[in-house]
Amino acid sequence: MMTAQELREKYLKFFESQGHKRIPSASLIPENDPTVLFTTAGMHPLVPYLLGEPHPQGRRLTSVQKCVRTGDIEEVGDDTHLTFFEMLGNWSLQDYFKKEAIEWSYEFLTRELGIPVKKLAVSVFAGDSDAPFDEEAYQLWVSQGISEKRIAKLGKKDNWWGPAGQTGPCGPDTEMFYWVGDEAAPENFDPEDHRWVEIWNDVFMQYNKREDGTFEKLEKPNVDTGMGLERTLVVLNGTRSVFDTELFVPIFQTLHLHSDAAHVSRHGRIIVDHLRAAIMIIADGMVPSNKDQGYILRRLLRRAIRTYKQVAGDPAFFVSIAESAIETLREAYPSLGQQKTIILEEIQKEQERFTKTLEKGEREVLKLWERNKNITGVNAFDLYQTFGFPLELTEEIAREYGQEIDHDSFEAEFKKHQDLSRAGSEQKFAGGLADTSEATVKLHTATHMLHQALRSVLGSHVAQKGSNITPERLRFDFSHPEKMTAEQVLEVENLVNENIRKDLPVHFLMLTLEEAKSRGAIGLFEDKYATLGDKIKVYLIGNEATGEYYSKEVCGGPHVQHTGLLGHFKIVKEEAVAGGVRRIKAILE
Ligand code: ALA
Repeated sequence: MMTAQELREKYLKFFESQGHKRIPSASLIPENDPTVLFTTAGMHPLVPYLLGEPHPQGRRLTSVQKCVRTGDIEEVGDDTHLTFFEMLGNWSLQDYFKKEAIEWSYEFLTRELGIPVKKLAVSVFAGDSDAPFDEEAYQLWVSQGISEKRIAKLGKKDNWWGPAGQTGPCGPDTEMFYWVGDEAAPENFDPEDHRWVEIWNDVFMQYNKREDGTFEKLEKPNVDTGMGLERTLVVLNGTRSVFDTELFVPIFQTLHLHSDAAHVSRHGRIIVDHLRAAIMIIADGMVPSNKDQGYILRRLLRRAIRTYKQVAGDPAFFVSIAESAIETLREAYPSLGQQKTIILEEIQKEQERFTKTLEKGEREVLKLWERNKNITGVNAFDLYQTFGFPLELTEEIAREYGQEIDHDSFEAEFKKHQDLSRAGSEQKFAGGLADTSEATVKLHTATHMLHQALRSVLGSHVAQKGSNITPERLRFDFSHPEKMTAEQVLEVENLVNENIRKDLPVHFLMLTLEEAKSRGAIGLFEDKYATLGDKIKVYLIGNEATGEYYSKEVCGGPHVQHTGLLGHFKIVKEEAVAGGVRRIKAILE
């Protein structure tokens, strides 16, 4: 029996003995990346270093990273998927490559963890028009003693990782699988057979994907690996699912006090998984809200509470399950000890808010039914929109009256609302532009340039918190913890003026949210959740022909056509508006 803590330590120690430096888990909320909501892999906080910036700890790193992946939320309840999980990882930043990575992976699995070779299989990249078959990885596995029948050659879908966005470092990977079937592992590896569970992925970041879709070979490639802590525990301890590991069992025991069915059911798994994720997100500074991470947090909590009500009844005990979950996470994350009261309070508050919402919504549904003897899709949307009453619940009640809700009209109403709210946020992007006179349009373009200059001079933590423009001046609020020095103010001014003098062209592109993010656009990604797949406007200041842009920002416009029109930029005031938020007033002369 190996505990989670033993596995974490074993992994870190092994890679330390191979010259790696241990780095702490970064926050679940990406610090310098406004374009993603959560840290989804160990490589995430390391992107700048994978792109060549020197890391203060050197070229070999190892960590246990907290991760949240909401993409898998519908899978939660099966044996292997979790929204919050921990990733064991080791990295070579332009240092060692395939040989060492594969040898160490093999050594760790077979010698350190004692996994018999007969239970292992691997896959390597088969090759396509972008990059050749990864023969080197294949041969390295053979030389470790893996039978050729146990090495699958697969395409991009399975054996290629990254880039994280549309461009950037990426490359073939090799994945390691463990046989969990009851009978002896078959001689041939069949990747379609789910009894082969993927536990580790070594990515060879060998290419840089360019904007035109071609792959350029990197001079100095990286290694990025990720091993799922919970899945590996399953394998080592021979349990059926991640929920049967010691990370979860005590939480189920508490749940069991309130519900007999909970232990074995999918419901219980959803409650426990979502609660763990919610706890860790709150611990990293978020509270339930209607925006960004806060919105995901709210959804996770509300789904867990609803599910809890279904299997256990009285939601008042929900918080005791949370308490138990905190206890299981405390060994690895000791600060949860001090944060416990605050976390439980937040969960309790959300539970109470949600219970009120549900009661109110239920009354409204009943009223509707009494009045019309019919509940339409539009009604269901109104209930959702006004009271936050989930469609599923309206459906549930309607069904009791023998009625089905028309999903198409619910969706149509939803879409209509999205379009309206997007129009609203475009206006917000316009930065409080009361009019579109020549003067305000110029100041608006200057605002983008100021935003970029602040990020260059102060750092990428700078994000817009507010903007207001009159024909006389611009006012820009942004996140930054301290007063700017006179030198910094001057530097920002100079940078803006330099780029005004370059007379850079200004134009916009209509991009999907994903495209905008992967191109590194900054700005207020309003309605991030709702606009997936739809197009938003991104303003680019810089040379279209060379693709060298000074600024890329999500915005509704309008803007001047080239920066030379702006004249001279001058900051007239820099002051505090709130804790961690500064305000600049500036003019064009
Ligand atoms: N970044 C790689 C993954 O997430 C290791 O699978």
